[in-house]
Amino acid sequence: QLMDKGNHRHFMQKEIYEQPVVVAQTLRSYLRPVEEQVALPDMAFDLSTVERVAIVACGTASYVGMIGKYWIEQFARVPVEVDVASEFRYRDPVLTPGQLGVVISQSGETADTLAALRHMKTHGLMTAGIINVPTSSMAREVDLLLSTHAGPEIGVASTKAFTCQLAVMAALATNLARAKGRLSPEEEQEIVRHLREAPQALSHALAHDDDIQAMAGKIAAARDVLYLGRGPDYPLALEGALKLKEISYIHAEGYASGEMKHGPIALIDDQVPLIVLAPSGPLFDKTVSNMQEAQARGAQVVLISDARGIAQAGENTIATIEMPEVHPLIAPLVYAVPVQLLAYHVAVAKGTDVDQPRNLAKSVTVE
Ligand code: G6P
Repeated sequence: QLMDKGNHRHFMQKEIYEQPVVVAQTLRSYLRPVEEQVALPDMAFDLSTVERVAIVACGTASYVGMIGKYWIEQFARVPVEVDVASEFRYRDPVLTPGQLGVVISQSGETADTLAALRHMKTHGLMTAGIINVPTSSMAREVDLLLSTHAGPEIGVASTKAFTCQLAVMAALATNLARAKGRLSPEEEQEIVRHLREAPQALSHALAHDDDIQAMAGKIAAARDVLYLGRGPDYPLALEGALKLKEISYIHAEGYASGEMKHGPIALIDDQVPLIVLAPSGPLFDKTVSNMQEAQARGAQVVLISDARGIAQAGENTIATIEMPEVHPLIAPLVYAVPVQLLAYHVAVAKGTDVDQPRNLAKSVTVE
């Protein structure tokens, strides 16, 4: 039953479409609507003693870690470092008591991440894990299990686990901020309100699937694709590029918008599509000016923004994809949808094996 694709052609498509439901399901165990608070399960350590955070993960989950760094530093003013798990142990990181180690993993079995968790524990860190499989090795070994309720994810390329991990990361950042005395009850109420809007905003994002499908052919013909984003949308640009590489085998790179001029701009000509993730908000104008530098060199821009952003900057693009206007906190969840759908439709247009891409495994249990 659980392995049923339903009306969908691929598991990946089904899992993209499940996101409003599974994100709501995940948020339900972290939001207290009556108290308008974000809650975590009981834990054996005191969050107010956390002085630094080390986040470790692989692949798509590592981008949740990068977004978490923006959120935790902004809300809780606690310094965060993020590592891909395969680098963490071998660089002999400075680990000190008072540090919280956070692992993020859909499967809870990825060998590098599991080894990083054990390394953290050996060095006396408090540990938390944002994990989808509650019976997994990591779920058993972390001090604080922060479950995602995405349900089984079958498609090799992670989709619904990613947005659920972001929802839990937002809950962790909020709790850390409160424990650190950095969050007023009013600010917390506002965060609760925005998180509660996330499932509906995800549905609105999914409603633009046809627009994405219609322009996927233009991307399918490309040899290289660049993704740009700023702030928390920068890791999402990395995720967009990873998704496209994984399932369509088109070379893609994600870049921080402002970093494009330090290299990748040299690649740009009228054969290179540039996917720009730019929700309106404080970073919008800066991203758009980077986009215009690329347009001046002939770049084929796809602008993903809201109605306000598209009205302001949608000219001279090959396509615009409209997202609902959302608070910057939930923008990375919402903008994950067009990024996933774009990779999906490009892969379908190219005829690749979407659910079982060559050379990749769902869970990598070797180092
Ligand atoms: C594999 C999958 C990716 C996933 C990564 C981490 O490479 O193909 O989609 O992001 O492993 O997996 P985990 O289960 O630790 O989240």
